[in-house]
Amino acid sequence: MTAPTKTLVLRPRVQRVDECLRPTRAEVDLDAIAHNLRVVRCAVQPTKVLAVVKADAYGHGVVPVALRLEEEGVDGFGVALAEEGIELRDAGIESAIVVLNGVYGGAHEEVLAAGLTPVVYDLSELEAFARAAGGRPFAVHLKVDTGMSRLGVPWRELGGFLERLEGVRGLRVEGLMTHLAAADSDDELTALQLGRFADALAQLRAAGHRPTLLHAANSAAALRLPHARFDMVRVGIALFGLSSVPELQRSFRPAMRLRSEVIAVRELRPGDRVGYDGTFVAERPTKLATVPIGYGDGLMRANSNRGVALVRGVRCPLVGNVSMDLSTFDVSAAGEVTPGDEVVLLGGQPAYGDDTIGAAELAQASGTLPYEVWCAISRRVPRFYRGG
Ligand SMILES: Cc1ncc(COP(=O)(O)O)c(C=O)c1O
Repeated sequence: MTAPTKTLVLRPRVQRVDECLRPTRAEVDLDAIAHNLRVVRCAVQPTKVLAVVKADAYGHGVVPVALRLEEEGVDGFGVALAEEGIELRDAGIESAIVVLNGVYGGAHEEVLAAGLTPVVYDLSELEAFARAAGGRPFAVHLKVDTGMSRLGVPWRELGGFLERLEGVRGLRVEGLMTHLAAADSDDELTALQLGRFADALAQLRAAGHRPTLLHAANSAAALRLPHARFDMVRVGIALFGLSSVPELQRSFRPAMRLRSEVIAVRELRPGDRVGYDGTFVAERPTKLATVPIGYGDGLMRANSNRGVALVRGVRCPLVGNVSMDLSTFDVSAAGEVTPGDEVVLLGGQPAYGDDTIGAAELAQASGTLPYEVWCAISRRVPRFYRGG
């Protein structure tokens, strides 16, 4: 195993570096995430920033990421599920935590007891919270669906919904939110949604509510559209290093490196076939390296005969089908490759130069989005942390 360059903090279930025998691991740079938060803040100030850390902080590991962001003074956290919010409270996070997708499964008392702020879009949910609060005041963010047709009170039905809110004891509508369907790709749709959001706000105020936190923007809207920022932006992908504004991309730093090591090398002759179904056939003498990472780790099978990795600083094509635990690379151009050599699937290999494989590039090779690339990295890939 390559010696770590800085102090590495392991997730609790792995106690020592040498207990982690497999060389496949994800290295998360908490300093980069803190830096990215500062870039976002600088771009959107004085708007508040809610760090979206659902799905294990997009695969980066929610507890270390949230602890670092809280230290940096982020204004709060967005999670998808109540369980994710409770995990953060258990880890000692004290900032506001908004449960973005609402609460299912009857966990209303637990949500209030943990001091989480639920997003609601359903009257029966509000009534359940009122019962759980037992007459005490409780705060929610109301979600209005302005055109994504996924979650939220449909904007056409908001008037009737607001009339029925009057009977809900203890309710304080602290926030009003919507979600934009195409903030980085369709300004017309975004404008339509923002118009409906403004209308929803007017209706809410006319019904006597005074929300203090209006929010609609994800990373793309936060960075591109000042008029979509309102009181708070909900930023996920930008914190992990990707900007949907190309001119700003250089200000952000990627936060994850996914690396492994060569475990076997063989020389192929023309006509030799590689992997399940023999989908790669060597056309010339080829040096092939086998690497212990597969779709069981999150390297998608769609990368078969499409991906690349850095070996000794050289881009080496992934050849053959990705299998569950292993994949194979043509390392003919990388020189004297031997077992133990580092293989980088995401990020750079600074010992050899500046080349970097970004999450967007890996996503493109897999026919997906960077979000899915990160989220797919499975729990059997230990995360190691720098900074923090
Ligand atoms: C409701 C909501 N807000 C904000 C975000 C953050 O989006 P992004 O990661 O594009 O900034 C998400 C992520 O999917 C979301 O579901």
